Amino acid sequence: MQFLMINQETIQRIMDATRIEEVIGEFVQLKKRGANHVGCCPFHNEKTPSFSVSPSKGFFKCFGCGESGNAVGFLMKHEHYTYPEALRWLANKYHIEIEEEKLTEEQIERNNERDALFHVSEFAQKYFASLLYDNEMGRAIGLAYFHNRGLTDKVIKDFGLGYCLDEWENFTRYARQNGYSDNVLQKTGLTIFKDDGKSYDRFRGRVMFPIFSISGRVLGFSGRVLSKEKQAAKYVNSPDSEIYNKSHILYGLYQAKNAITRQDKCYLVEGNIDVISMYQSGVENTVASCGTSLTVEQVRLMRRYTKNITVLYDGDSAGIKAAFRAVNMLFEEGMHVRVVLFPDGDDPDSYAQKYGSSKLQEYLKENETNFIVFKTKVLVDEVKGDPIRKAEVLKDIVRTIALVPDLMERTEYVSLCASLLRMPEQTLQTELAKELNRRLRQTNDYKPDPNDKDLSDTPATPEQSETPAAPQVEAFTINPAAYQERKIINLLLNYGNKVLSRMEEDENGEKTKVDYTLMQIVVGDILNDGLTFDDPVCQQIFNEFATRVTNGDTFVDEQVFVQHPSEQVRNMAINMMMEDYHISDNWSKKQINVPRPEECIEADMQESINSFKLKKLDKKIDDLDRQFPYAESEEDRLILVSQKMHLVKLRQQLGSQLNRIIV
Ligand code: CTP
Ligand code: MN
Repeated sequence: MQFLMINQETIQRIMDATRIEEVIGEFVQLKKRGANHVGCCPFHNEKTPSFSVSPSKGFFKCFGCGESGNAVGFLMKHEHYTYPEALRWLANKYHIEIEEEKLTEEQIERNNERDALFHVSEFAQKYFASLLYDNEMGRAIGLAYFHNRGLTDKVIKDFGLGYCLDEWENFTRYARQNGYSDNVLQKTGLTIFKDDGKSYDRFRGRVMFPIFSISGRVLGFSGRVLSKEKQAAKYVNSPDSEIYNKSHILYGLYQAKNAITRQDKCYLVEGNIDVISMYQSGVENTVASCGTSLTVEQVRLMRRYTKNITVLYDGDSAGIKAAFRAVNMLFEEGMHVRVVLFPDGDDPDSYAQKYGSSKLQEYLKENETNFIVFKTKVLVDEVKGDPIRKAEVLKDIVRTIALVPDLMERTEYVSLCASLLRMPEQTLQTELAKELNRRLRQTNDYKPDPNDKDLSDTPATPEQSETPAAPQVEAFTINPAAYQERKIINLLLNYGNKVLSRMEEDENGEKTKVDYTLMQIVVGDILNDGLTFDDPVCQQIFNEFATRVTNGDTFVDEQVFVQHPSEQVRNMAINMMMEDYHISDNWSKKQINVPRPEECIEADMQESINSFKLKKLDKKIDDLDRQFPYAESEEDRLILVSQKMHLVKLRQQLGSQLNRIIV
């Protein structure tokens, strides 16, 4: 048992010793190219290397799949380690002794209890698995059942399957003999305690499917009935506990995760047996939600491995319609969704048993359809030319398309669905624009604009108010200053520490040269004008710089961003830092005589600040124009006019400066 925690200083020593190219080099063949090392990305299939490692900045980025991070992130992603596991791996590699900190009593208590729950679950799993082979009843009933269903001994082992005897207290007694307390037996739900103090096993006479965490720890169980008795529930499941939360776990993910990464794709099926059958048929990248409808947490878990999900449906149409609703959530999470519909009455397991594994694989390949195309076809078939219902279908489909975060993808769907619906593309385009607008207005920070007349004709219905925020991308395309904002952040990240000299007059009117870092100049300038960023991630990064500048710091360590707790910040920072590297690398490779970005950095900075300000001014002027018709008195109007005059003048000044620099 482990009561200790790696202390902050040790973490720092580990990070200081770590050479990212050495770490990644243990898993990926890297070649030096310019300042970077490149190789084939281990996170997606590729033949030409687009995976780049920057030793000086301490991070990697794949220009193919977009994966990025530092050495710890690499180990977590590649080896599926937890954060402390990755640190221990590095400490071991660099021979750093881990100094651990004593936990508080409360932490120890909690860890002790969690640990004990893990232990008893693992103990139970081993016991149930052993009964399957070592016990006469286990063999005759449990093992015979699995063999009957066509499972091999190998997959029975891979999935840790087991059997529990049909007795009231067999397991509870055995666990107590082995020193497990009633407390942990109760908390894991393995034993049920009644008010009168009596206790009995939760699982009796069932075949057992253990549920594993992604790192392979046993969290709970699902037990399937064997008898045909009507009263008994088909499945009995572990209750949620401190270690098991069924809506956060995907059945089979532990066994599937490597295949999912390798194939960049995940199949979602309904039942435990379906997962195992698929796995045995060579389709190892399969998971199921643990008997619940798919939750956001489960999708996010999956998204750590892939964005491509293929949902397998049993072939009855009632189920399909219900599933349509559930699938919208997948789009909102940015997943690419495909479906395979099985013949009526079959599920993946029964299909595999009937026709064998190669036929199953063939079926999956040939029947895989893009979800939006599938949905459109099903709905179009149904309405058979009824114009009113066709209009409803159009709206329904547009609502789904609107959930796709990527603009290019949306555009493709519009033209695809237009032809399926036999409608002009423009009709869909218009509906889509309306839908996106409606969503945009529902985002949290939206404040109704009195000028926005079209608000009145879209009363909010209960169904509408449930729809979640618009996809991120929308906010980006409608934000006219997005480019300028990113340019500023890009400069700060890549050249924030660069020293620039300026001539300044002291009290005596004498001119002297003063050194500033770029971040001091840029931050000072923007803070001075009280300007803010529309993009929250840009704003967050800017704030990190601003805090330091106002504290009197002149430099910032880029690791602050590379290791930032916010994933969005980390991603934006790494992307921007890596892009820049990439470009200058190409220049030198092609021997094109272009000034390196550093050489024109000062001019670039000035231009960026000015165009940022210009955009912000434009927006302010626009806002004033919008307010004008609503001014209540002549005086208010005059104030608005004079404010506008002031801004227009500023804009003229900026504009002329900008021209000078550009020309
Ligand atoms: N399930 C459950 N409780 C039930 C019924 C089902 O938790 N009473 C969950 C289980 O996780 C099950 C899944 O829903 O795996 C799908 O149910 P079903 O299709 O009925 O079960 P299968 O796993 O297909 O079982 P089998 O093929 O053995 O009938
Ligand atoms: Mn089944």
